[in-house]
Amino acid sequence: MITKPKGTYDVLPLEVREWQKLEETIRKICKLYNYKEIRTPIFESSEVFHRDQNDTSDMVTKETYDFKDRSDRGITLRPEGTAGVARAFVENKLYVDNPVTKLFYMGPMFRYERPQKGRNRQFNQFGVEALGSDSPYIDAEVIALGASLIRALGLKDITVKINSLGDEESRSKYKDVLVEHFGKYKDCLCEDCKNRLIKNPLRILDCKVDRDQEFFKTAPKINEYLNEESKTRFNKVLEALDSMDLKYVIDDNLVRGLDYYCHTVFELEVNVAEFGAQNVIGAGGRYNKLISDLGGPLTPGVGMAFGMERLLLATSFSGKNLAKEEYIHAYFIALGEKAQAEAVKVMNACRIGGLSCEMDYLNGSLKSQFKKADKNNARFTIIFGENELAEMKCNIKDNQTDEQETISLLEVYTYILTKLNKASACNTCPSKN
Ligand code: HAM
Repeated sequence: MITKPKGTYDVLPLEVREWQKLEETIRKICKLYNYKEIRTPIFESSEVFHRDQNDTSDMVTKETYDFKDRSDRGITLRPEGTAGVARAFVENKLYVDNPVTKLFYMGPMFRYERPQKGRNRQFNQFGVEALGSDSPYIDAEVIALGASLIRALGLKDITVKINSLGDEESRSKYKDVLVEHFGKYKDCLCEDCKNRLIKNPLRILDCKVDRDQEFFKTAPKINEYLNEESKTRFNKVLEALDSMDLKYVIDDNLVRGLDYYCHTVFELEVNVAEFGAQNVIGAGGRYNKLISDLGGPLTPGVGMAFGMERLLLATSFSGKNLAKEEYIHAYFIALGEKAQAEAVKVMNACRIGGLSCEMDYLNGSLKSQFKKADKNNARFTIIFGENELAEMKCNIKDNQTDEQETISLLEVYTYILTKLNKASACNTCPSKN
């Protein structure tokens, strides 16, 4: 029997629906934030990824699938989406029509890594790249988009870790002090870090081998070496996150595994024991030189990518099955002919406003209608009979919190909108727990 290559897997018919639901949710979120889809080749010329002889990232130095095609051209299966999107941006001169180009992609990536739960050799990423603006607010937007996706999938216990690598001047100063610090312990460093000490000392901080050594803990921190401009920029990113009520933790050891980053870097971690070591579900940061390194004009960029398998694992560990996560916003229990006629009217207004609604057209008992609301996975249940109708009132129950209130029938739509976050208003509502 011929079996699948190590580190790959089949998505069987019963599992496909979950993938489709994840993809649908991603598309809705990208629409909210106005990111447009781009599809680039799964293989690229090797130079797209192997641009820099000094690149020290594991992904580029150890994990790419490289081969020669039949015409002896160097080809690499894409290990990530950013570089290919940057290549397409430059080659198609996307900057001409759109000074700020916001793109998203989904699809398979390939890394020759040791397979384990949540780590495959062929895996899928959903990523976004915003090219053309150096605004700290677009860094915050990218993180907010990630948080919206997490919310829409109903995931909890996620930590956003964030750090700033500063501009070139700050990094260069910091690199010098790192070389001085780690240089003292050169003989104790692993082979990779000895090499990093020469090529990119920042990446030593990302080392999994040397991490527990005492001299690691005493290493100088980047935030002490950020110049004023970089500090101000980082603070603006944090203030924007605060203004959106997005929680984060500043992690001054976070440098990220890829060499192209500057300023903001971040990772989203799932804090669920079953997840094991591969608990980073998404990550990203700013890269202001990648586009020019690929032959384009100097164009700042920021982006992020999620591992889609890890998103699905995280949803299953939270006891969710996306395929079964169909929901509606509101189920109307209208008792009596007149109330039903009014429900038709209110539901219509809600639907036009983008809320999915349902009611019982079979005149079932109150009990059976509550059951139907539950079966439909309704976020809100609206209940009224002729007495309430006389006062144009209804009872509305939030099935997520079990809170119940009496409100005007004219307020149903705005009430639900206010309760849902913005993302949920466009049908990406976190479903009931
Ligand atoms: P990355 O951290 O290398 O960043 O990968 C992003 C995410 O892809 C990881 O957080 C993880 O969830 C998932 N991932 C990575 N490797 C594997 C694997 N072997 N198996 C399963 N999932 C995996 C990037 O790729 C950057 N391009 C992100 C970015 C976009 N930065 C700026 N724009």
